[in-house]
Amino acid sequence: MSRNLKAMIGPSILNSDLSRLYEESQKLLDNGADYLHLDVMDGHFVPNLTLGHPVVKCLRNKIKDVFFETHMMVSKPEQWIVPMADAGVNQYTFHIEPVDNVEEVCRKIKENGMKVGLAIKPGTPVAEVDKYISISDMVLIMTVEPGFGGQKFMQDQMTKVKYLRDQYPLLNIEVDGGVGPSTISCCAEAGANMIVSGTAVIGAADQAATIRTLRDTVQQAINKR
Ligand code: DX5
Ligand code: ZN
Repeated sequence: MSRNLKAMIGPSILNSDLSRLYEESQKLLDNGADYLHLDVMDGHFVPNLTLGHPVVKCLRNKIKDVFFETHMMVSKPEQWIVPMADAGVNQYTFHIEPVDNVEEVCRKIKENGMKVGLAIKPGTPVAEVDKYISISDMVLIMTVEPGFGGQKFMQDQMTKVKYLRDQYPLLNIEVDGGVGPSTISCCAEAGANMIVSGTAVIGAADQAATIRTLRDTVQQAINKR
């Protein structure tokens, strides 16, 4: 059943040295990252600012064949679909909380050639996203309040991951926030297969070993299922 599900590690570059965005990203890829998770914040949906499509485009010019996911922590996700597609983004993951017409945003993302990721904050019930599974490629269950790296993993969010995995054996389920070697087992057992990790990977003495540990733990759980 879960034969087609793959463990993938997508480091978040948020807490890296952003003056060296390309070098830091390339290092993560050289150390085994499967994709890059790029955190986009607008200062409205979350109380923080990060980077936007011009920066993503520059990074894409230097890194050609890697899957880019943008995690859109923004109040108006529909506004950035075209610029992000133009910047070379592969998957546009947005929060459904501020959106009136989720179907419409999903449709536009697909029209622009990107995959659709649907994200929910810790306080949002999983039922809110469950109704859109058939029109999405991935669901992101946040395991911290979005806005900042380096926060504590919220284990209670695993009930949402478990629920989704039970319903949808082949759905790509991503977790993001406070995920690292000490919290990966919970995520793997609950059924997450796409793993975002910021501080734990960026700050690791041995990045490659950390990424390998995360992926192996998740893949083993998938293989047991
Ligand atoms: C939080 C971001 C995360 C975060 C991950 O708003 O979406 O991607 O930076 O960083 P860590 O792993 O440090 O929580
Ligand atoms: Zn993120």
